[in-house]
Amino acid sequence: MAFKIFHPISFIVLIFILLAPIGHARRSTPSDRKSSPFDFIKKLEGCHKGNNTKEIHELKAYLEQFGYLKYQNKTHATDDDFDDILESAIKTYQKNYHIKPSGIVDDKTISKMTTPRCGVPDIVNGTNYMQSRDKKHKSGSSNIHTVSHYSFFPGNLRWPSSKTHLTYRFLPNFPNNAMAPVARAFQKWDSATHFTFAQVQTNQNSDLVIAFHRRDHGDGSPFDGPGGVLAHAFAPTNGRFHYDADETWSIGPVAGAFDLETLALHEIGHLLGLGHSSVNAAIMFSGIGAGQIKNLHDNDIQGIRALYGR
Ligand SMILES: *[C@@H]1O[C@H](CO)[C@@H](O)[C@H](O)[C@H]1NC(C)=O
Ligand SMILES: *[C@@H]1O[C@H](CO)[C@@H](O)[C@H](O)[C@H]1NC(C)=O
Ligand SMILES: *[C@@H]1O[C@H](CO)[C@@H](O)[C@H](O)[C@H]1NC(C)=O
Ligand SMILES: [Zn+2]
Ligand SMILES: [Zn+2]
Repeated sequence: MAFKIFHPISFIVLIFILLAPIGHARRSTPSDRKSSPFDFIKKLEGCHKGNNTKEIHELKAYLEQFGYLKYQNKTHATDDDFDDILESAIKTYQKNYHIKPSGIVDDKTISKMTTPRCGVPDIVNGTNYMQSRDKKHKSGSSNIHTVSHYSFFPGNLRWPSSKTHLTYRFLPNFPNNAMAPVARAFQKWDSATHFTFAQVQTNQNSDLVIAFHRRDHGDGSPFDGPGGVLAHAFAPTNGRFHYDADETWSIGPVAGAFDLETLALHEIGHLLGLGHSSVNAAIMFSGIGAGQIKNLHDNDIQGIRALYGR
């Protein structure tokens, strides 16, 4: 149904001129297009505690990046020893993604872990909100399971209650044709919450700032080239939201490309204070496939209402 909204322009793939020449060269070979920084995980199929395969240190880095792991001893962070800490991190990941927590790198785990995703960690500063809320709600007296899998940042970071109107601007290099999908995403959050949004000129101050960046861009969270991490945003009241300029972006569902509006809906959720949801259909679910489009879900709206008490 949502396809209709985008119909007139749904097959336009945006080729961004801001891509570096090297990026163009790499993209021209079809086999390269399909490779992703997460592909190494496929080589770990069936691995479990006690294994010692050369990609295991990469899996440790992956799980650390998304908040599942933190070694006190840096030697263990960079070795290929499948130890207790790694097993425990994999089990936590599996629970968050509704996979049987075996601690084994099985098919389902590989399939989730290799899905392109948002760069914001699932577990921010060591607290796993993707699960705690679940337990709280299940203990209710009702027979109906009203399980809310939305999450917030530590300390429930949010905009002050008086701040319901937020302004946003695009950095000067932002492609013109990518602005409308972002504006539509703001409009959807505007309709569904107590927030209102307005765009201001690139040279004005604003609460939120949106830009395309590639690789290391100075905020401590470097992008990783085509595939892998697609975008990220910061918790309130930071206001920054970045797309990875190395991805192939689209307006609407296009095979092999990522929908600008879908990613904007997700990242705006972070800008407002939502963390990742364990509900697959929620916009705040961390992963998004190429060619996939998504909309706001009840779970996302419930999350914002719970955070702001409205
Ligand atoms: C993991 O270890 C088992 C033995 O426990 C071995 O059979 C298997 O081949 C190893 N897997 C990999 C990917 O190295
Ligand atoms: C880190 O682990 C290595 C290997 O097990 C060990 O030799 C070293 O003493 C440990 N370092 C610290 C600071 O515990
Ligand atoms: C996580 O902890 C670091 C260091 O204490 C802090 O700077 C950062 O703001 C925290 N992030 C969130 C989202 O709470
Ligand atoms: Zn995210
Ligand atoms: Zn960034």
